[in-house]
Amino acid sequence: MEIKEITKGVYAAPTLHWDRRLFDELIPLPDGTSYNAYIVKGDEKTALIDTADPEKQHELLDALEKMEVNIDYIVANHAEQDHSGSIPAVLEQYPNAKVLCTPKCKPMLVEHLLISEDIITTMDDGSTISLGGKTLEFIHTPWVHWPETMSTYLQEDKILFSCDFLGSHMATSDLFVKDKPEVYRAAKRYYAEIMMPFRNSVIKNLAKIKERQIDIVAPSHGPMHDEPEFIINAYLDWVSDDVKNEVVIPYISMHGSTAAMVDYLVDALMERGITVKPFNLATTDIGELAMALVDTATIVIGSPTVLAGPHPSVVYAAYLANALRPKARFATIVGSYGWGGKMADDIVGLIKNLKVELIEPVIIKGYPKEDDFKMLDKMAEDIFKKHEEIEII
Ligand code: FEO
Repeated sequence: MEIKEITKGVYAAPTLHWDRRLFDELIPLPDGTSYNAYIVKGDEKTALIDTADPEKQHELLDALEKMEVNIDYIVANHAEQDHSGSIPAVLEQYPNAKVLCTPKCKPMLVEHLLISEDIITTMDDGSTISLGGKTLEFIHTPWVHWPETMSTYLQEDKILFSCDFLGSHMATSDLFVKDKPEVYRAAKRYYAEIMMPFRNSVIKNLAKIKERQIDIVAPSHGPMHDEPEFIINAYLDWVSDDVKNEVVIPYISMHGSTAAMVDYLVDALMERGITVKPFNLATTDIGELAMALVDTATIVIGSPTVLAGPHPSVVYAAYLANALRPKARFATIVGSYGWGGKMADDIVGLIKNLKVELIEPVIIKGYPKEDDFKMLDKMAEDIFKKHEEIEII
């Protein structure tokens, strides 16, 4: 790892994890990730802001040693281990360092990292600490995406160290954003997977940080933003109540009946000028599905009937969509059965968190026939009219 100066006395120490492909044993990482620590050197004291995943702690420790710097404070913006997990090792190297965090973060660090509470000082919302010519302000930004999260604002240099907030899972050699479309996709994927369930908290926290003049957003995943409005405006769009004229269709098919229904519905929706995003759950990357859920107006879930209920892959996708709480306005179900079952009822029971109006499902016996396709035409027309009613067409 190479520690690079961002502005005088402020350094970025990004640990790049190029080949990590899964986070939390759940989230696909097609672009790897990074764990960005930052060093702020004042005239009197030096602070390390966030650390690195313990798997990569040796890279951070070696780079700090090479820098020949003493660490007086370790700022823990977030207790999750990909940022806090190397704190015990940093404390071994710098035994006099004090850890600074929110009051909610303190017991979490003690519980998760087994460090002594005596070396932790809690910082109230809006409190500051001077390093000598460099002032760190601690802004509590809870629920992005844990309850204890905060951002740290370097007042003199107008840099916001936002940790997960405004970040993106990306390993890149670019210190700052260069390829905007690439970073936009990675940041949207990150928002969808991590932040979307906390949309209301994100709205409040965006308003809070916008009270400061920000020249650089320095997250702890992905490249830094020297045009902060790029990422802040993207977030404002994602968290807004606006939905797009889109239908997302997560589905799976065992013997072709549900696939035939989905294919027909896709065409019927496209004929009406609606953007359609089908995801075959047998092969789909759930991150792509999560991204599509950020803006969509309507979700159509497609499933065959297995052991009287939905296909297990559909159960997983419906559970996930329910947990991610997208702002979709409408939902419905298509699918088939051989001899009976309550597949549609089970799916409805799985998406109770979604504040959606349910459009009449189309559940058929066996392979779709002429009358079944007519019902799918009616479903497409119903979706079109609903989208017209909310003025997105
Ligand atoms: Fe990057 Fe919530 O940790």
